[in-house]
Amino acid sequence: MATQARPQPLDGLKSRLFATRKLTAELAAPLSDADATIQPFPDASPAKWHLAHTSWFFETFVLRDHVPSYRPFDERYAYLFNSYYEAEGPRHARPRRGMLSRPSLEEVLAYRVHVDESLDRAFADLSPAALELVELGINHEQQHEELFLTDILATFAENPLEPAYGELMPPGCFASEPLSWKRGREGIVEIGASSDGFAFDAERPRHRIFLAGHEIASRPVTNSEWREFIDDGGYSTPTLWMSEGWDWVQRERITAPLHWRGEAEFTLGGPRRIDPQAPAAHLSYYEADAFARWSGARLPTEGEWEDFAASADPMIGNQLDEAGAVVPRPGGGIFGDVWEWTKSAFSSYPGFSPAKGAVGEYNGKFMCGQFVLKGASCATPRGHSRPSYRNFFPPNARWQFTGLRLARDA
Ligand SMILES: [Fe+2]
Repeated sequence: MATQARPQPLDGLKSRLFATRKLTAELAAPLSDADATIQPFPDASPAKWHLAHTSWFFETFVLRDHVPSYRPFDERYAYLFNSYYEAEGPRHARPRRGMLSRPSLEEVLAYRVHVDESLDRAFADLSPAALELVELGINHEQQHEELFLTDILATFAENPLEPAYGELMPPGCFASEPLSWKRGREGIVEIGASSDGFAFDAERPRHRIFLAGHEIASRPVTNSEWREFIDDGGYSTPTLWMSEGWDWVQRERITAPLHWRGEAEFTLGGPRRIDPQAPAAHLSYYEADAFARWSGARLPTEGEWEDFAASADPMIGNQLDEAGAVVPRPGGGIFGDVWEWTKSAFSSYPGFSPAKGAVGEYNGKFMCGQFVLKGASCATPRGHSRPSYRNFFPPNARWQFTGLRLARDA
């Protein structure tokens, strides 16, 4: 009897599953079918695709594989909404996701309901292995909730009418805090997720690393500090940049963070005056690295950041809550506002092994050419952050809420 063998916390699993599914659907409520269909550039996905793909994940890895009586909503959807799982066969090309005028938003929402109702019916009899995949599916969907918001921001940023999706965070809620430096631990420390609780495979195993003497800034770099960098010719001084970054700045004609427009920035709430006290956001690794060099500092390593986070207080800052908005915490917190670039390449930990089956493609095959970001952003769902978390993006990516915190040798 699967229900008797199940560990206790799984009652919470079911409510977290449906709370997560509900939040994703609510994030789509302000969108028209046209809003939800546009793909602003190949790395971003249409809102409709996120809504369907997260459902495909549960449909495939939980319902198809563990519930013999399950019947798919539409067998053609596997081709449309498989993201990158080679083991699941051919799929629609990522850069052409914006061509999917059909299925409609309404049909995709009906697909979600079909998957939710099937999960609800099957839940009591799911095996421990299937329940682990439900946990993975929840965390997967939370990642897509954040991508959903940043992709909508990128979509609306393309429209000269400057439409507003909805205010994520009230303006002017950042408190000014002078920067101070915190001495980090020196010597052998442990990083990575322990074997308790959920973590993605890339966070394990927990292992020892060596930290040289260093200090970490008490808060992320702010917009006013970024303005000083611009005014000092930061974007036109080649000696501040990595060669690849300098090529990128020139080729793409980069002169400011992604959504800055003069004295204003484009936000999910529409155009807003740039808040000088807010953490600088929508920065590439190249920009973060150049700013750190201009400051006479450097980016932290992921080990330095994680060891700092393990002793930091307060932990939780401005993050997305269950109602799909941010309840401001003016004092900030290291898990919120912006993801923070580290100088560490996203690579495997000693003893790493990918999860078994198709979901083993989740992280391991992306350990090439990307950098680790730590913390969380204002668009990260509350509860989806921990010191061992390793977000990752290529060095030119900046459509996420990405910023930086300085570090230096000491
Ligand atoms: Fe995904």
